[in-house]
Amino acid sequence: MKALILSGGKGTRLRPLTYTGAKQLVPVANKPILWYGIESLVAAGITDIGIIVSPETGPEIEAKTGTGILFGAHITYIHQASPDGLAHAVKIAQPFLGDSPFVMYLGDNLIQDPLAEFVADFQSRPLAASIMLKQVANPTAFGVAKIAADGSVVELVEKPKDPPSNLALVGVYLFSPAIHQAIAQIKPSARGELEITDAIQQLITTQQKVAARELSGWWLDTGKKDDLLEANRIILDMYITSPDVQGTVDERCKISGRVVVGKGSQLTNCTVRGPVVIGENCLIDNCFIGSYTSIADSVSMSNIEIDHSVVLKGAKISGVQRRIVDSLIGERAQLMVSDHRPKALRFMVGDDSIIELVS
Ligand code: DAU
Repeated sequence: MKALILSGGKGTRLRPLTYTGAKQLVPVANKPILWYGIESLVAAGITDIGIIVSPETGPEIEAKTGTGILFGAHITYIHQASPDGLAHAVKIAQPFLGDSPFVMYLGDNLIQDPLAEFVADFQSRPLAASIMLKQVANPTAFGVAKIAADGSVVELVEKPKDPPSNLALVGVYLFSPAIHQAIAQIKPSARGELEITDAIQQLITTQQKVAARELSGWWLDTGKKDDLLEANRIILDMYITSPDVQGTVDERCKISGRVVVGKGSQLTNCTVRGPVVIGENCLIDNCFIGSYTSIADSVSMSNIEIDHSVVLKGAKISGVQRRIVDSLIGERAQLMVSDHRPKALRFMVGDDSIIELVS
Protein backbone atom coordinates (compact mmCIF):
# COMPACT_ATOMS: atom_id res chain seq x y z
CA MET A 1 0.00 0.00 0.00
CA LYS A 2 1.32 3.44 -0.99
CA ALA A 3 0.05 6.94 -0.24
CA LEU A 4 -0.39 10.05 -2.32
CA ILE A 5 -0.70 13.35 -0.49
CA LEU A 6 -1.99 16.29 -2.51
CA SER A 7 -0.19 19.49 -1.59
CA GLY A 8 -0.29 21.37 -4.85
CA GLY A 9 -3.06 23.77 -5.79
CA LYS A 10 -3.16 27.53 -5.35
CA GLY A 11 -4.63 27.85 -1.84
CA THR A 12 -6.63 30.95 -2.74
CA ARG A 13 -8.98 30.61 0.23
CA LEU A 14 -6.28 31.30 2.83
CA ARG A 15 -4.98 34.37 1.03
CA PRO A 16 -3.07 36.50 1.84
CA LEU A 17 -1.18 33.90 3.94
CA THR A 18 -0.85 31.57 1.00
CA TYR A 19 0.53 34.19 -1.40
CA THR A 20 3.85 33.59 0.21
CA GLY A 21 3.55 30.09 1.60
CA ALA A 22 1.86 26.76 0.98
CA LYS A 23 -1.47 26.42 2.77
CA GLN A 24 -0.47 22.87 3.74
CA LEU A 25 2.44 24.33 5.75
CA VAL A 26 0.31 26.73 7.77
CA PRO A 27 0.88 25.50 11.32
CA VAL A 28 -1.75 24.05 13.59
CA ALA A 29 -0.46 23.99 17.18
CA ASN A 30 2.91 25.01 15.68
CA LYS A 31 3.16 22.02 13.32
CA PRO A 32 2.33 22.13 9.58
CA ILE A 33 -1.06 20.62 8.77
CA LEU A 34 0.60 18.40 6.17
CA TRP A 35 2.77 16.73 8.79
CA TYR A 36 -0.26 15.41 10.71
CA GLY A 37 -1.32 13.61 7.52
CA ILE A 38 2.14 12.09 7.06
CA GLU A 39 2.20 10.96 10.70
CA SER A 40 -1.21 9.39 10.44
CA LEU A 41 -0.18 7.43 7.30
CA VAL A 42 3.01 6.20 8.99
CA ALA A 43 0.97 5.18 12.06
CA ALA A 44 -1.15 3.03 9.71
CA GLY A 45 2.05 1.35 8.43
CA ILE A 46 2.23 3.25 5.11
CA THR A 47 5.72 4.64 4.57
CA ASP A 48 6.07 4.89 0.78
CA ILE A 49 4.56 8.32 0.26
CA GLY A 50 4.32 10.53 -2.83
CA ILE A 51 3.59 14.23 -2.34
CA ILE A 52 2.12 16.33 -5.15
CA VAL A 53 3.57 19.85 -5.13
CA SER A 54 3.10 22.97 -7.25
CA PRO A 55 5.90 25.07 -8.81
CA GLU A 56 5.03 28.01 -6.47
CA THR A 57 5.10 26.20 -3.14
CA GLY A 58 6.91 22.93 -3.88
CA PRO A 59 10.40 24.14 -2.96
CA GLU A 60 9.24 25.30 0.50
CA ILE A 61 7.36 22.05 1.15
CA GLU A 62 10.36 19.97 0.07
CA ALA A 63 12.82 22.02 2.11
CA LYS A 64 10.75 21.76 5.31
CA THR A 65 9.45 18.21 5.01
CA GLY A 66 12.55 16.59 3.56
CA THR A 67 13.11 12.99 2.51
CA GLY A 68 10.72 11.55 5.07
CA ILE A 69 13.43 10.63 7.54
CA LEU A 70 11.78 12.89 10.14
CA PHE A 71 8.73 10.62 10.04
CA GLY A 72 10.22 7.19 9.36
CA ALA A 73 8.91 7.35 5.78
CA HIS A 74 10.27 7.63 2.26
CA ILE A 75 8.88 10.65 0.39
CA THR A 76 8.88 11.10 -3.39
CA TYR A 77 7.95 14.59 -4.60
CA ILE A 78 5.80 14.75 -7.73
CA HIS A 79 5.59 18.05 -9.58
CA GLN A 80 2.25 19.21 -10.95
CA ALA A 81 2.73 22.14 -13.32
CA SER A 82 -0.75 23.62 -12.74
CA PRO A 83 -3.67 22.77 -10.41
CA ASP A 84 -5.72 20.85 -12.96
CA GLY A 85 -7.67 18.83 -10.42
CA LEU A 86 -7.39 16.06 -7.88
CA ALA A 87 -7.78 13.32 -10.52
CA HIS A 88 -5.14 15.05 -12.65
CA ALA A 89 -2.78 14.78 -9.68
CA VAL A 90 -3.40 11.01 -9.54
CA LYS A 91 -2.83 10.80 -13.28
CA ILE A 92 0.61 12.39 -13.11
CA ALA A 93 1.49 10.24 -10.09
CA GLN A 94 0.89 7.01 -12.04
CA PRO A 95 4.62 6.25 -12.53
CA PHE A 96 5.06 6.47 -8.74
CA LEU A 97 1.87 4.54 -7.88
CA GLY A 98 2.32 1.72 -10.42
CA ASP A 99 -0.17 -1.10 -9.75
CA SER A 100 -0.26 -0.49 -6.04
CA PRO A 101 -3.44 0.25 -4.10
CA PHE A 102 -3.09 3.61 -2.35
CA VAL A 103 -4.47 6.09 0.15
CA MET A 104 -5.06 9.53 -1.33
CA TYR A 105 -4.85 12.20 1.35
CA LEU A 106 -5.61 15.90 0.77
CA GLY A 107 -2.80 17.88 2.37
CA ASP A 108 -5.14 20.46 3.95
CA ASN A 109 -7.43 17.89 5.61
CA LEU A 110 -7.18 16.51 9.13
CA ILE A 111 -9.19 13.61 10.52
CA GLN A 112 -9.40 12.26 14.03
CA ASP A 113 -10.15 8.60 13.21
CA PRO A 114 -6.99 6.48 12.84
CA LEU A 115 -6.41 5.23 9.30
CA ALA A 116 -5.34 1.68 10.18
CA GLU A 117 -8.85 0.24 10.52
CA PHE A 118 -10.01 1.92 7.30
CA VAL A 119 -6.97 0.48 5.46
CA ALA A 120 -7.47 -3.03 6.93
CA ASP A 121 -11.13 -3.03 5.88
CA PHE A 122 -10.19 -2.00 2.33
CA GLN A 123 -7.55 -4.72 2.09
CA SER A 124 -9.94 -7.42 3.31
CA ARG A 125 -12.53 -6.86 0.53
CA PRO A 126 -12.38 -6.67 -3.27
CA LEU A 127 -13.12 -2.93 -3.45
CA ALA A 128 -12.28 -0.49 -6.23
CA ALA A 129 -12.51 2.45 -3.84
CA SER A 130 -13.47 3.33 -0.31
CA ILE A 131 -14.57 6.81 0.70
CA MET A 132 -15.24 8.59 3.97
CA LEU A 133 -18.25 10.79 4.56
CA LYS A 134 -19.21 13.33 7.17
CA GLN A 135 -22.41 15.28 7.68
CA VAL A 136 -21.90 19.00 7.09
CA ALA A 137 -24.04 22.11 7.30
CA ASN A 138 -22.86 23.48 3.93
CA PRO A 139 -22.73 20.54 1.47
CA THR A 140 -22.56 22.84 -1.58
CA ALA A 141 -18.88 23.51 -0.70
CA PHE A 142 -17.88 19.81 -1.04
CA GLY A 143 -18.25 16.62 -3.01
CA VAL A 144 -21.58 15.13 -1.87
CA ALA A 145 -22.78 11.50 -1.74
CA LYS A 146 -26.22 10.00 -2.12
CA ILE A 147 -26.40 6.75 -0.16
CA ALA A 148 -29.02 3.98 -0.54
CA ALA A 149 -30.82 2.43 2.43
CA ASP A 150 -28.38 -0.53 2.36
CA GLY A 151 -25.43 1.88 2.71
CA SER A 152 -24.21 1.59 -0.89
CA VAL A 153 -23.19 4.71 -2.80
CA VAL A 154 -25.74 5.68 -5.43
CA GLU A 155 -24.29 8.93 -6.71
CA LEU A 156 -21.48 11.43 -6.10
CA VAL A 157 -21.55 15.05 -7.18
CA GLU A 158 -18.88 17.74 -6.83
CA LYS A 159 -20.02 21.01 -5.20
CA PRO A 160 -23.67 20.60 -6.23
CA LYS A 161 -26.04 23.61 -6.27
CA ASP A 162 -28.80 21.30 -5.12
CA PRO A 163 -27.12 18.70 -2.86
CA PRO A 164 -28.69 15.21 -2.76
CA SER A 165 -27.72 14.90 0.96
CA ASN A 166 -25.65 16.60 3.65
CA LEU A 167 -22.94 13.89 3.46
CA ALA A 168 -19.68 15.47 2.29
CA LEU A 169 -16.75 13.55 0.85
CA VAL A 170 -13.83 13.75 3.27
CA GLY A 171 -10.41 14.31 1.70
CA VAL A 172 -9.08 10.83 2.46
CA TYR A 173 -9.75 8.06 -0.07
CA LEU A 174 -8.59 4.48 -0.69
CA PHE A 175 -8.17 3.30 -4.26
CA SER A 176 -7.30 0.14 -6.14
CA PRO A 177 -5.45 0.62 -9.46
CA ALA A 178 -8.92 0.56 -11.14
CA ILE A 179 -9.08 4.31 -10.45
CA HIS A 180 -6.54 4.94 -13.24
CA GLN A 181 -8.89 3.57 -15.95
CA ALA A 182 -11.77 5.57 -14.46
CA ILE A 183 -9.69 8.77 -14.61
CA ALA A 184 -8.81 8.04 -18.23
CA GLN A 185 -12.54 8.10 -19.04
CA ILE A 186 -13.59 11.40 -17.43
CA LYS A 187 -13.52 14.95 -18.84
CA PRO A 188 -12.69 18.20 -17.03
CA SER A 189 -15.58 19.69 -15.02
CA ALA A 190 -17.20 23.10 -15.49
CA ARG A 191 -14.44 24.62 -13.31
CA GLY A 192 -11.87 23.11 -15.70
CA GLU A 193 -10.54 20.44 -13.32
CA LEU A 194 -10.35 16.65 -13.58
CA GLU A 195 -12.42 15.82 -10.51
CA ILE A 196 -11.70 12.76 -8.37
CA THR A 197 -15.41 12.80 -7.48
CA ASP A 198 -16.25 12.23 -11.18
CA ALA A 199 -13.69 9.41 -11.37
CA ILE A 200 -15.28 7.64 -8.37
CA GLN A 201 -18.70 8.21 -9.96
CA GLN A 202 -17.29 6.54 -13.08
CA LEU A 203 -16.37 3.47 -10.96
CA ILE A 204 -19.96 3.37 -9.67
CA THR A 205 -21.43 3.75 -13.19
CA THR A 206 -19.30 0.83 -14.42
CA GLN A 207 -20.57 -1.34 -11.52
CA GLN A 208 -17.32 -1.47 -9.58
CA LYS A 209 -17.47 -1.74 -5.82
CA VAL A 210 -17.22 1.53 -3.89
CA ALA A 211 -17.63 1.41 -0.11
CA ALA A 212 -18.49 4.39 2.07
CA ARG A 213 -18.30 4.91 5.79
CA GLU A 214 -19.35 7.82 7.92
CA LEU A 215 -16.57 9.18 10.10
CA SER A 216 -17.27 9.14 13.80
CA GLY A 217 -14.55 11.60 14.85
CA TRP A 218 -13.96 15.18 13.77
CA TRP A 219 -12.87 16.20 10.30
CA LEU A 220 -11.27 19.52 9.49
CA ASP A 221 -10.70 21.03 6.08
CA THR A 222 -8.31 23.80 7.04
CA GLY A 223 -8.65 25.83 3.86
CA LYS A 224 -10.24 28.85 5.61
CA LYS A 225 -9.40 31.02 8.62
CA ASP A 226 -12.19 29.85 10.93
CA ASP A 227 -11.54 26.20 10.04
CA LEU A 228 -7.88 26.72 10.82
CA LEU A 229 -8.69 28.26 14.22
CA GLU A 230 -11.02 25.33 14.94
CA ALA A 231 -8.28 22.86 13.92
CA ASN A 232 -5.88 24.71 16.22
CA ARG A 233 -8.35 24.45 19.11
CA ILE A 234 -8.95 20.72 18.63
CA ILE A 235 -5.29 19.83 18.10
CA LEU A 236 -4.12 21.87 21.12
CA ASP A 237 -6.68 20.03 23.22
CA MET A 238 -5.57 16.62 21.95
CA TYR A 239 -1.81 16.94 21.69
CA ILE A 240 -0.83 19.26 24.53
CA THR A 241 -1.36 16.85 27.38
CA SER A 242 0.96 18.36 30.01
CA PRO A 243 2.91 21.59 30.63
CA ASP A 244 6.41 21.76 29.18
CA VAL A 245 8.32 24.96 29.82
CA GLN A 246 11.80 24.92 28.27
CA GLY A 247 12.26 28.67 27.90
CA THR A 248 12.55 31.13 30.79
CA VAL A 249 9.59 32.46 32.70
CA ASP A 250 10.14 35.14 35.38
CA GLU A 251 8.59 35.08 38.85
CA ARG A 252 5.87 37.59 37.93
CA CYS A 253 4.36 35.23 35.33
CA LYS A 254 1.21 33.23 36.07
CA ILE A 255 1.17 30.13 33.95
CA SER A 256 -1.79 27.80 34.34
CA GLY A 257 -2.89 24.63 32.59
CA ARG A 258 -1.21 22.92 29.66
CA VAL A 259 1.33 25.43 28.38
CA VAL A 260 4.34 24.67 26.19
CA VAL A 261 7.16 27.23 25.96
CA GLY A 262 9.95 26.41 23.50
CA LYS A 263 13.72 26.73 24.00
CA GLY A 264 15.17 30.22 24.05
CA SER A 265 11.82 31.96 24.64
CA GLN A 266 11.57 34.53 27.43
CA LEU A 267 8.34 35.46 29.18
CA THR A 268 8.23 38.38 31.62
CA ASN A 269 5.19 39.47 33.63
CA CYS A 270 2.75 37.39 31.58
CA THR A 271 -0.45 35.48 32.32
CA VAL A 272 -0.84 32.39 30.19
CA ARG A 273 -3.87 30.08 30.35
CA GLY A 274 -3.45 26.78 28.53
CA PRO A 275 -3.81 25.01 26.31
CA VAL A 276 -1.26 27.29 24.65
CA VAL A 277 1.85 26.56 22.64
CA ILE A 278 4.67 29.09 22.31
CA GLY A 279 7.54 28.29 19.94
CA GLU A 280 11.28 28.91 20.30
CA ASN A 281 13.10 32.23 20.67
CA CYS A 282 10.03 34.37 21.39
CA LEU A 283 10.18 37.54 23.50
CA ILE A 284 6.94 38.12 25.37
CA ASP A 285 6.52 40.89 27.92
CA ASN A 286 3.49 42.01 29.91
CA CYS A 287 0.95 40.00 27.93
CA PHE A 288 -2.17 37.96 28.58
CA ILE A 289 -2.29 34.82 26.43
CA GLY A 290 -5.62 33.03 26.59
CA SER A 291 -6.57 29.44 25.81
CA TYR A 292 -6.30 27.94 22.34
CA THR A 293 -3.56 30.24 21.16
CA SER A 294 -0.53 29.06 19.17
CA ILE A 295 2.49 31.31 18.83
CA ALA A 296 5.20 30.25 16.38
CA ASP A 297 8.98 30.73 16.71
CA SER A 298 10.68 34.15 16.93
CA VAL A 299 7.53 36.12 17.72
CA SER A 300 7.79 39.24 19.86
CA MET A 301 4.81 40.56 21.78
CA SER A 302 4.45 43.21 24.45
CA ASN A 303 1.58 44.87 26.29
CA ILE A 304 -1.19 42.95 24.58
CA GLU A 305 -3.97 40.47 25.34
CA ILE A 306 -4.57 37.68 22.88
CA ASP A 307 -6.98 34.76 22.92
CA HIS A 308 -8.02 31.89 20.61
CA SER A 309 -5.61 32.94 17.88
CA VAL A 310 -2.71 31.77 15.74
CA VAL A 311 0.42 33.92 15.35
CA LEU A 312 2.93 32.86 12.73
CA LYS A 313 6.72 33.03 12.71
CA GLY A 314 8.51 36.32 13.28
CA ALA A 315 5.36 38.43 13.88
CA LYS A 316 5.62 41.50 16.17
CA ILE A 317 2.61 42.69 18.15
CA SER A 318 2.67 45.45 20.75
CA GLY A 319 0.49 47.92 22.59
CA VAL A 320 -2.87 46.99 21.02
CA GLN A 321 -5.37 48.23 23.64
CA ARG A 322 -8.20 45.79 22.97
CA ARG A 323 -7.98 42.02 23.33
CA ILE A 324 -7.03 40.31 20.06
CA VAL A 325 -9.39 37.36 19.49
CA ASP A 326 -10.11 34.75 16.78
CA SER A 327 -7.21 36.09 14.73
CA LEU A 328 -4.65 34.71 12.36
CA ILE A 329 -1.51 36.86 12.15
CA GLY A 330 0.81 36.07 9.24
CA GLU A 331 4.58 35.53 9.19
CA ARG A 332 6.61 38.66 9.98
CA ALA A 333 3.42 40.77 10.24
CA GLN A 334 3.67 43.79 12.53
CA LEU A 335 0.77 45.09 14.57
CA MET A 336 1.83 47.96 16.79
CA VAL A 337 0.28 50.79 18.75
CA SER A 338 2.87 53.22 20.06
CA ASP A 339 0.61 55.49 22.09
CA HIS A 340 -1.91 54.72 24.86
CA ARG A 341 -4.63 56.71 23.13
CA PRO A 342 -3.82 56.75 19.46
CA LYS A 343 -5.36 59.65 17.57
CA ALA A 344 -4.91 57.93 14.27
CA LEU A 345 -4.31 54.45 12.91
CA ARG A 346 -1.50 54.02 10.40
CA PHE A 347 -1.61 50.89 8.23
CA MET A 348 0.38 49.14 5.60
CA VAL A 349 -1.99 46.34 4.73
CA GLY A 350 -1.27 43.79 2.00
CA ASP A 351 -3.72 42.69 -0.69
CA ASP A 352 -6.68 40.62 0.56
CA SER A 353 -5.93 41.29 4.24
CA ILE A 354 -8.89 41.55 6.58
CA ILE A 355 -8.93 43.93 9.55
CA GLU A 356 -12.03 43.94 11.73
CA LEU A 357 -12.42 46.42 14.58
CA VAL A 358 -15.26 44.87 16.57
CA SER A 359 -17.14 46.02 19.64
O1 DAU B 1 -11.83 18.76 1.61
C1 DAU B 1 -12.69 17.82 1.02
C2 DAU B 1 -13.05 18.23 -0.39
O2 DAU B 1 -11.80 18.31 -1.13
C3 DAU B 1 -14.00 17.21 -1.05
O3 DAU B 1 -15.28 17.23 -0.41
C4 DAU B 1 -14.17 17.53 -2.52
O4 DAU B 1 -14.98 16.54 -3.13
C5 DAU B 1 -12.82 17.59 -3.21
O5 DAU B 1 -12.95 17.95 -4.58
C6 DAU B 1 -11.90 18.60 -2.52
O6 DAU B 1 -12.45 19.89 -2.72
P1 DAU B 1 -11.64 21.26 -2.54
O7 DAU B 1 -12.22 22.29 -3.43
O8 DAU B 1 -11.62 21.58 -1.08
O9 DAU B 1 -10.18 20.89 -3.03
P2 DAU B 1 -8.93 21.87 -3.08
O10 DAU B 1 -8.89 22.57 -4.39
O11 DAU B 1 -8.87 22.69 -1.84
O12 DAU B 1 -7.71 20.85 -3.06
C7 DAU B 1 -7.52 19.91 -2.02
C8 DAU B 1 -6.03 19.64 -1.85
O13 DAU B 1 -5.44 19.14 -3.05
C9 DAU B 1 -5.20 20.85 -1.47
O14 DAU B 1 -4.22 20.44 -0.53
C10 DAU B 1 -4.54 21.28 -2.76
C11 DAU B 1 -4.38 19.98 -3.50
N1 DAU B 1 -4.47 20.06 -4.97
C12 DAU B 1 -5.59 20.61 -5.52
C13 DAU B 1 -5.72 20.67 -6.90
C14 DAU B 1 -6.97 21.26 -7.54
C15 DAU B 1 -3.45 19.55 -5.75
O15 DAU B 1 -2.43 19.03 -5.22
N2 DAU B 1 -3.57 19.63 -7.12
C16 DAU B 1 -4.67 20.15 -7.73
O16 DAU B 1 -4.72 20.18 -8.98
